[in-house]
Amino acid sequence: MEKQNIVLGVTGGIACYKALELVRLLVQDSCSVRVVMTRGAAEFVTPLSFQTLSGAPVATDLFSLTQESEIGHIDLADSADLLVIAPATANVIGKLAAGIADDLLTTVVLATQAPVLVAPAMNVHMLAHPLVQANLAKLRGAGYHVMETASGSLACGYEGKGRLPEPPVIVEEIRALFRSKDLAGEHIVVTAGPSREPLDPVRYLSNRSSGKMGYALARAAARRGAQVTLVSGPTALAPPTGVRTVPVVTAEEMRGAVLAEFESATAVFMAAAVADYRPHAAAAQKMKRGDGSLSVEFVPNPDIVAELAARKRHQVVVGFAAETESLLANARAKLEKKNLDLLVANDVTQVGSGFDVDTNVVTLLDRDGTATPLPLMSKDAVADRVYDWYLQYKKQSPRRIKSPSRRRTA
Ligand code: PMT
Repeated sequence: MEKQNIVLGVTGGIACYKALELVRLLVQDSCSVRVVMTRGAAEFVTPLSFQTLSGAPVATDLFSLTQESEIGHIDLADSADLLVIAPATANVIGKLAAGIADDLLTTVVLATQAPVLVAPAMNVHMLAHPLVQANLAKLRGAGYHVMETASGSLACGYEGKGRLPEPPVIVEEIRALFRSKDLAGEHIVVTAGPSREPLDPVRYLSNRSSGKMGYALARAAARRGAQVTLVSGPTALAPPTGVRTVPVVTAEEMRGAVLAEFESATAVFMAAAVADYRPHAAAAQKMKRGDGSLSVEFVPNPDIVAELAARKRHQVVVGFAAETESLLANARAKLEKKNLDLLVANDVTQVGSGFDVDTNVVTLLDRDGTATPLPLMSKDAVADRVYDWYLQYKKQSPRRIKSPSRRRTA
């Protein structure tokens, strides 16, 4: 990370002391670090400690004329290759989510063009609060890279999530963000979320997919330089920045949207949980309650990913498999039957894995029989591992994946 300019925002929480170690590690890695402290942070650790470790003046106050002439806030924003906020309190997360800039740090964050990495740290119940979760989702939607907190005993006496990740883990995340734009020139199509199959004007058949895995894939591809189209079923997530999002509702609509992108796509990642069946015909009016049982006839939906695999020429088609039993056997059967290039097997029974959580546990399956299990990690980290694997696959199979221009026409 030699010569990377990192602006480190430190906000007021007990985990501030860990930010000192973070500065030491970054300087050791030849980064130039400029620290911006909030007033709260300066109550926990002195600016002098950060100044000594970073070897640069520490900025603390937007309204100090001396500081503004020596360390202009726009200069700080412009000079950053990356802006890191560690620890990020619920307060600063809320302010950023609302677009508030009432101190130096929040002003620099709004003014910078650099990527922003947020490492939250707070009490377990604060972290779980729906407003904090909504604010974190907003930051992700705005393109900020939000780290998962670590679990363990917290300074407030509670056990659980909310700890600032250890400094070496944050440094690893920073390294990943500086990785080259290795997906430049690619058009990556990602599907996310559930499909909804209407029964009548007010009811539908759907599933528990939140879209988080697919949105993480879309964000990571955009960060790594790809042109990204996200075909999304209904979710509560904000559309990611720098990504073209195409909203759909039913499997049929998803099929249409994906096929429209397929010719120009270099790869499709089908993370969506598409309903295999839909009601034969949606009732025109709300179905009335009767006395007896109710039977609804279902008909199969198109298998989108199998259709893509049958049509593919230059494209790489990557499926996901959500399994509740015999993970590898069932996932491998899908890889073969649908003729996919690669498949991400998702054990949705494990804690912290699968539907509607920010973490996942997956195994990467190749057609040659290789299975690469990954440990529990954030969906953002899974997305990066999936793209590393995809690029490796392309490198190993250059002849099989022909470029669009060299394709034979019938
Ligand atoms: O959205 P989250 O809450 O973050 O949860 C993530 C996830 C669990 C949904 C995701 O990681 C995942 O596993 N997605 C695949 C879910 C699924 O539908 O698996 P499946 O085994 O039923 O389908 C296998 C593959 O076929 C999938 O790529 C699916 O998109 C595709 N499919 C399925 C049915 C259909 N009619 N058409 C399809 O293309």
